[in-house]
Amino acid sequence: MCGIIGYTGAKNSINIILSGLHRLEYRGYDSAGIALCPKNGEKLVVVKTPGKIIDLENSIQKAFTGTENRNYTLGIGHTRWATHGAPTLANAHPHLSRNGQFAIAHNGIIENYEELKARLIKQGYSFVSETDSEVIAHLIEECYEGDLRGAVAATVEKLDGAYGIVVISSKHPDTIVAARKGSPIAVGICDGETIIASDVSAIVNYTKKVIFLNDGDILTATSDNVDITSVKNIPVSREMTHIDWDIHDIEKGGYEHFMLKEIHEQPLALANGIRGRLLENEGTAKLNSMQMDPHHMARIDRIEIAACGTSYHAGMVGKYYFEDFASISTEIQQAAEFRDRNPIIHRDTCLIAISQSGETADTLAAVREAHQKGAIVLGICNVVGSTIARESGRGVYLHAGPEISVASTKAFTSQVSVLAMIAIAFARTRRLSITAGREVIHQLSKLPEIAENVIAQEPVIKKIAEKYAEARDFFYIGRGYMYPAALEGALKLKEISYIHAEGYHAAELKHGPIALLAKNVPVVALVPNVPAKIKTMSNMLECNARHAPVIAIATEGDKDINGLYDDVIRIPPCAEFLSPIPVVIAEQLLAYHIARIRGCPIDQPRNLAKSVTVE
Ligand code: F6R
Repeated sequence: MCGIIGYTGAKNSINIILSGLHRLEYRGYDSAGIALCPKNGEKLVVVKTPGKIIDLENSIQKAFTGTENRNYTLGIGHTRWATHGAPTLANAHPHLSRNGQFAIAHNGIIENYEELKARLIKQGYSFVSETDSEVIAHLIEECYEGDLRGAVAATVEKLDGAYGIVVISSKHPDTIVAARKGSPIAVGICDGETIIASDVSAIVNYTKKVIFLNDGDILTATSDNVDITSVKNIPVSREMTHIDWDIHDIEKGGYEHFMLKEIHEQPLALANGIRGRLLENEGTAKLNSMQMDPHHMARIDRIEIAACGTSYHAGMVGKYYFEDFASISTEIQQAAEFRDRNPIIHRDTCLIAISQSGETADTLAAVREAHQKGAIVLGICNVVGSTIARESGRGVYLHAGPEISVASTKAFTSQVSVLAMIAIAFARTRRLSITAGREVIHQLSKLPEIAENVIAQEPVIKKIAEKYAEARDFFYIGRGYMYPAALEGALKLKEISYIHAEGYHAAELKHGPIALLAKNVPVVALVPNVPAKIKTMSNMLECNARHAPVIAIATEGDKDINGLYDDVIRIPPCAEFLSPIPVVIAEQLLAYHIARIRGCPIDQPRNLAKSVTVE
């Protein structure tokens, strides 16, 4: 969602802040701004604009002439994704306090801002924006008694809601103070400079050594020192995390879009995810970070899975794994629903929270609720050191590398493979025999090659995309393991191409959606060579009868479906439980090429953000 960056050091902060804001662009935003602190205690300088970073760069160029901008070695920047108030100049961050001495940038939502604003107005403060964030700047001014850290701490004590905040002041030209509750803040430790950001992708170009703040932490940073305390000013120590990917991993590497790059990275991402974790001899998976021995695993009698969006679809596949392999009764819920209801959880329930970013607010809330109820919590995250990864306490990382494209691709396939490994580890503490375990592990080891083979179908998929790119509606149908794949295919298409697309269990077609079938409504039928295929084939006939074009995703060499489709994408043969992986890769490529033909902004679809840190 919104992005934050702050810099203090010897260099010109403007360039570093702008480059950090570029790195954060992928999160989605509709305005941007910077605030700079002159060394000599003069007034803070704020430049902001609705629109893109390029517009901000133009405004900065106009605002400064000659060498003047070299004086700014400390500053903060922000990309805003509008929530309270339209994406206007006034609503863009950073926001200044009434006396102009404090500037803040804020991610998150302040729930009690109306009440705070009303009180501040009564005290003579005037507001220039419609945002919830502006109250923070005025509160800091109100609480300031010579100590910036203290003023920020006193301010956050008055706030309800979620925040990641960075604050600078003309009275402290060498200091940035940051605070966090519910919205991530990371600090990069370099020699003689400190970089603070809401996302490590803005830091990793400068340093791999990063500290993540916990909720309730207040950071005071200068160019050569970082100090973390609690709101009550008690020093706290936070571990340093070493980031194991670098800037090339988050650059496009010759691909037109991050999404395409990430689709192509799937063979490698899958290989990285399974590396060292498959124990072929023992017929199980070794996942040390789960911190559960076989006795512990054998005790779990119920699994709850909570996740959102694409991660939720991976979780649906996971439910089938836990039930099919381990016979553990498993529920999957959208994370928001999990927290809004009152889930039945006891100490032998394990909550599995799945989140690529590890920052999704609803999934995090589910983790906290499950902890509160005494459940064992496992996090499946991609972003190392993310909040869900840390708060879950135990879990499994995907090791898929950074996912920049808003539309999730490699995270899905990696999540599914990690869920399969976890399910096998559980299943081996129960009835699954070593022979059956070995077979599953053997199948899993073929995943990188399977992914490679699907990607090789890209030219065929591109041709199919050309044929259907003008469609206004799409259906995706499948049964069993293909049902979550149908939901995921439809989600991918709608979010990046803006074509209305719906995923259905194939059997549900007759219960309503069939009314919409017509010659201009393509149906993607997911029919790899698995037992449920026969029944879906009869649904394909129903589509044929209504002249709806059928695009089949089917196994290489399978002739059973001949005559039932208009176009076909072939995937390599694989075990039924792994079929969502090649099928979804084919769907990703179809969605990508359709969106590309339609000229859509694929990496940053309208209204979407990479990580949804608000409820
Ligand atoms: C879709 C997509 C979203 C995310 C969802 C959860 O392509 O990316 O649906 O899957 O917002 O995000 P994470 O996995 O970061 O919790």
